[in-house]
Amino acid sequence: MNTSSESSSSRRTFLGSAAAAAVGTRALSAGVHAGGSDLLKVGLVGVGGRGTGAGQQALNADPGTELVALADVFEDAVERGHRQLSRMFNKDGQKPRVTATADQCYAGFDAYKRVIDSCDVVLLATTPHFRPQHLRAAVEAGKHVFCEKPVAVDAPGVRSVLESSRIAEEKNLNLVSGLCWRYHHGKRATFEQIKNGAIGDIVSMQCSYMTGGVWDPRRTPEQCSSEMEYQLRNWYYYTWLSGDFNVEQHIHSLDKMLWAMNDEAPVTVSGSGGRQVRTDERYGNIYDHFNVVYTWKNGVKAFARCRHWQNCENEVDDYIVGTKGVVNVMRHTITDHSGNVVWKFDGPGGDMYQIEHDELFGAIRAGKTINNGDYMSKSTMLAISGRMAAYTGQRLTWEACMNSEEDLTPSSYEWSDNSVPAVAVPGKTKFI
Ligand SMILES: NC(=O)c1ccc[n+]([C@@H]2O[C@H](COP(=O)([O-])OP(=O)(O)OC[C@H]3O[C@@H](n4cnc5c(N)ncnc54)[C@H](O)[C@@H]3O)[C@@H](O)[C@H]2O)c1
Repeated sequence: MNTSSESSSSRRTFLGSAAAAAVGTRALSAGVHAGGSDLLKVGLVGVGGRGTGAGQQALNADPGTELVALADVFEDAVERGHRQLSRMFNKDGQKPRVTATADQCYAGFDAYKRVIDSCDVVLLATTPHFRPQHLRAAVEAGKHVFCEKPVAVDAPGVRSVLESSRIAEEKNLNLVSGLCWRYHHGKRATFEQIKNGAIGDIVSMQCSYMTGGVWDPRRTPEQCSSEMEYQLRNWYYYTWLSGDFNVEQHIHSLDKMLWAMNDEAPVTVSGSGGRQVRTDERYGNIYDHFNVVYTWKNGVKAFARCRHWQNCENEVDDYIVGTKGVVNVMRHTITDHSGNVVWKFDGPGGDMYQIEHDELFGAIRAGKTINNGDYMSKSTMLAISGRMAAYTGQRLTWEACMNSEEDLTPSSYEWSDNSVPAVAVPGKTKFI
């Protein structure tokens, strides 16, 4: 295990040092692995549930891949993921696919730099806050990227990601987003129907992500070595780390609304939300319910609701209403306005998590580039703007949200105290 010895620093210092470090790094040209079966070195940053899954999918996608380095802010996480992936992919009598040794497992806030230095393709799967700085370092260093959603927690982060996406495009680097429904066969077929006019013109949309929530955080002695450790281990409950749950989770639904609107952003957003059941201090500073309305230039509205309440009705569904019919996106069906099913996708949906990686590695081998930077940034901003409207209680324009100067980065990344803003109060919390 390699524990990063570099000291922690602020996001701005990080970005500066990442950019400086990239000066001496040879940028890979997209064609380097095209058409060949030569080794593609994969590095994993953020070795939690999703990161371990993404590592698995990257190794399954292409027989010429090897996992050469892993990084997590926590030593126990990187060790656990390394152990799990080694067990899955290093079989007796076969060529090992996880070639990272214990020395190539890095821990700490700067660990990502070591991984980026040692691979061709980086999988970014930490908590959302860190995505902008990790993505910038990866593309500056000329690496192809798989980038989990959401890609930021604030507007400066989204603007940074848009710039990173531009850099990736300039360097012909692949940038594949973890907004996985865009890679699902059934969803692709359904949106194809919408594009081909099966429901006429879109009139309105409704998306719901109403579930019981995620893990219940407890302050165990091991987690209380510092407030920063508590927050990172329970990142979901802190707006600076997750963006709030409408950003972390509801983004999947909002992305489908954006997809239906041909990736055009809305013009205004207004909404409400609050904290009805998760009121204890251990739940950090996020809300437990949101109701947000997005309005597009042509008058189309998306009604988006999400909540984390236990023992209540659960619903995860997306509907798109058109002049000729209604799409139930999750069920891949179209009904006319009399309720008759006029189209249904019956094929296999496929494993969307695997398809993302199959297409990423397929593109690298074919010397092609996929760049999902535009929609992954806009969908992240859709979610953030909904949070901003609910926290402040104001109707906001898309432009104001995109230009927001609110930066949720803490003053430093240190294993010490980290005070966070109080839970937002609509009408009092200001838009920044
Ligand atoms: N596409 C999907 O369907 C899907 C599903 C689950 C999660 N996700 C996304 O994947 C990301 C991770 O979620 P998860 O469920 O795996 O969470 P997790 O807590 O299991 O894993 C996150 C890991 O990142 C590590 N980490 C945090 N900050 C870091 C840093 N600065 N450097 C290195 N490592 C750091 C954490 O210690 C943790 O091990 C989130 O953005 C989440 O929204 C996407």
